[in-house]
Amino acid sequence: MKYTDADIDKLRRDVAAYLTEKRYRHTLAVEGETAYMAALYMPERENELRAAALLHDIAKKLSYENQLNYIREFDIMIGEKDPVGDVAHAPAGAAMIKAHFPAFDDPDIISAVRYHSTGRAYMTVFEAIIFLADYIEPTRSHESCRALREKFHREADAASTMDERLGALCRAVVDAMRSTVYYVRSSGMELDPETLTALSYFEAGGVLRDSV
Ligand SMILES: [Fe+2]
Ligand SMILES: [Fe+2]
Repeated sequence: MKYTDADIDKLRRDVAAYLTEKRYRHTLAVEGETAYMAALYMPERENELRAAALLHDIAKKLSYENQLNYIREFDIMIGEKDPVGDVAHAPAGAAMIKAHFPAFDDPDIISAVRYHSTGRAYMTVFEAIIFLADYIEPTRSHESCRALREKFHREADAASTMDERLGALCRAVVDAMRSTVYYVRSSGMELDPETLTALSYFEAGGVLRDSV
């Protein structure tokens, strides 16, 4: 593995400075959910996945302006328009890894943090794990998150082949995206087009890719 357990222990302490107490609890819960999925899907990359989970929300405390500054300075890929307010912390977090945690500037970690909020078409399994763990981690008490967590665990644990297991992950990612679209629309907020593009990709039969 690229990172030792000691590297991850240190990272777990270091990210606390970037997060509110509540967000830190959420971050640790995402790490726990990610570790469960790492065991099912890519045990050899567990520590890279843990690192992505620990880093995924590090830009959340910044103002929108500062998030955009990071995105521009580090040339993180965004669409033609600036990302909508709620999701800008994802590309900004990818930029902050390059600025403040260069040891974790790994293509899988960067893309998983970059797309953790919106998802994207052609998502990788690594990205899907972080995206889903963020949505279903056990401190999320909303009914749709709880129901999806139970359904996903049931299906993933029952799967006897990797193909079946990947099917469970893909279905859960699509369910999470559909819930996000419904929630954002019904609360009158602006939906980032990346999520709709991702949803169309999977609804047209798109699958999770192996690598970035
Ligand atoms: Fe986030
Ligand atoms: Fe999060």
